[in-house]
Amino acid sequence: MDRAWESRKAWLAALSAPVPEGVNNPLEVAAFETETYLDAARTGRSVRFVPYPAMKESYEICRQGNDFQIKGGQPGVLYGAYALIRALQAGEEIPVGVQKPYYPLRMLNCWDNMDGTIERGYAGRSIWFEQGRFDYDPARIRQLGRMLASVGINVLCLNNVNVHQPAQHLTDDLLPEVERFAAILRPFGVRLMLSIDFSQPLQQGLPTADPEDERVAAWWRQRAKEVWRAVPDLAGFLVKADSEHRPGPNAYGRTHAQGANMLARAVKPFGGVLVWRAFVYNCMQDWRDTKTDRPRAAYDLYRPMDGQFDDNVILQIKYGPFDFQVREPVSPLLYAMPKTRLAIEFQLAQEYTGHQIDLYAMPPMWREIMDQTGKQRVEAIAAVSNLGRDDNWTGHPFAALNLFAFGLFAWNPDADPERVIRLWCQNTYDLPAEEREKLVSVLLRSRAIYEKYTAPLGLCWMVRPDGHYGPSPYGYEFQAWGTYNRADCRGVGVDRTAGGTGYADQYPPEIRDRYADSKTCPDELLLFFHRLPYDFVMRDERTLIQRIYDDHFEGAEAAEEMQEALRGLPLPPEDRQEALTRMEMQVRNAREWRDVINTFFHRFSGIDDKKGRRIYD
Ligand code: GCU
Repeated sequence: MDRAWESRKAWLAALSAPVPEGVNNPLEVAAFETETYLDAARTGRSVRFVPYPAMKESYEICRQGNDFQIKGGQPGVLYGAYALIRALQAGEEIPVGVQKPYYPLRMLNCWDNMDGTIERGYAGRSIWFEQGRFDYDPARIRQLGRMLASVGINVLCLNNVNVHQPAQHLTDDLLPEVERFAAILRPFGVRLMLSIDFSQPLQQGLPTADPEDERVAAWWRQRAKEVWRAVPDLAGFLVKADSEHRPGPNAYGRTHAQGANMLARAVKPFGGVLVWRAFVYNCMQDWRDTKTDRPRAAYDLYRPMDGQFDDNVILQIKYGPFDFQVREPVSPLLYAMPKTRLAIEFQLAQEYTGHQIDLYAMPPMWREIMDQTGKQRVEAIAAVSNLGRDDNWTGHPFAALNLFAFGLFAWNPDADPERVIRLWCQNTYDLPAEEREKLVSVLLRSRAIYEKYTAPLGLCWMVRPDGHYGPSPYGYEFQAWGTYNRADCRGVGVDRTAGGTGYADQYPPEIRDRYADSKTCPDELLLFFHRLPYDFVMRDERTLIQRIYDDHFEGAEAAEEMQEALRGLPLPPEDRQEALTRMEMQVRNAREWRDVINTFFHRFSGIDDKKGRRIYD
């Protein structure tokens, strides 16, 4: 069996020996990991574990001279063990004292299809599905469990939210397979979740999937019973309903609260949660209709339902009101549902952010989002996975940083992006400090650079339709997805203030006021909230058009600088080769973006670049 993946460590460089089969629970994994690490590192230190079940996911590291004691629940001791190893490996201060995760539910959503493809996957095929069945290397799943546990991720949703072949997931013959898979991850404190199809009763012979029909509710209760009998610690079900042509309660004139609650009641006896996605909008919009504004959709739909959801329903909200764009304001729904349990959803898969070809380290973006959401209102966090069957797990070797960092942010949303990026570098590559700092700096700047050469001032959606890589400023303009920039010769952007679509009014007043005034609206969101002429004068006294040109020229130039910086890094040969090949593609992509977007706006505005740089006619 090809085990190349084992030597490409993603960030587990410190952990030399694979976790053997038969290591049965988090405590045993913790003991194995610390012993092998300390032996290999010849530190002369030892670790003693004190199981304390009531601490559950928390742990406390104490230092006694040269030795450590880790007290905690299960899997708390395991999180403590990894935190200790991570810190020793990085030469960081040991995190003594009690540590507990901020979000109880820290979940990876895998968009894996049973045929082995991954929706929006950029790192190869599914690691566990192929041709309609489970097909995996158990050692690799153990390594996956270890990766997730090492950064505190505790739930993995196994299948795509678009459940294309629902019958295959919950039929009895597949349940033992789900359990076998769950059993491999269990010692790592990782539980499974399953995506379900709201219309499944129809496919099983019922005449309806109406959530208010008692036959439907009974069918789901029975289903839940069978599923939990097979996988007793399943975390719950994840549902995408009435969204992008997926079936849902609206077909029966029922609300999403009715739909979610019916399912929540079926899973409740087993301690399951029902995660309901709030990614719901009209994907059949007429572009001529300027009244409908897609970003409004989730708030308009769910806000009136606050207080109607059962206590084991979690409403999962994408961080922005559109769809994982490079820059969006934080979703106003995150502020608007005080009586509902909420999860925030990120996307590690780089769908709109460079396909794991272009560098895009997410921690700086998450820092901004976390600072704005009033994170205390959110109690769960999910991210779409960026993993696949590629040997290095994430296609681009540096894309592993985003999974690592997601775990650390889910544990502590106050994390410092630079520190997390550095920690990943230290735990992945053995680089001299000066070289390591070059890599840290490239990664830290990568998001801002990508934003500069792609998305001007919060416009979004100038990407090629379908694939979502490369520029196409009018690609989405006359389509049904509700994603318009309305650029013409007079100006660009959508007025989302009270005088326009009114979207800005969905925010609490102080945030609304800041966004609604073009003088106080942050530059990077200016065209998200306002429609402005090309000669609009920005706060720094540049005109809007000049700023668009400058950003695109500077962004493409900065991509070339990143390439230069990477060339000199003494990385392991496969990673270096892969990173440089992708960097070359990124530089080409950045130039393409620069030229297409600048030409597009030059044609509309008729205004030349003040600095006389080349803009194609
Ligand atoms: C995006 C993505 C889809 C996905 C959807 C979702 O629109 O392009 O592939 O299904 O998000 O989050 O459900």
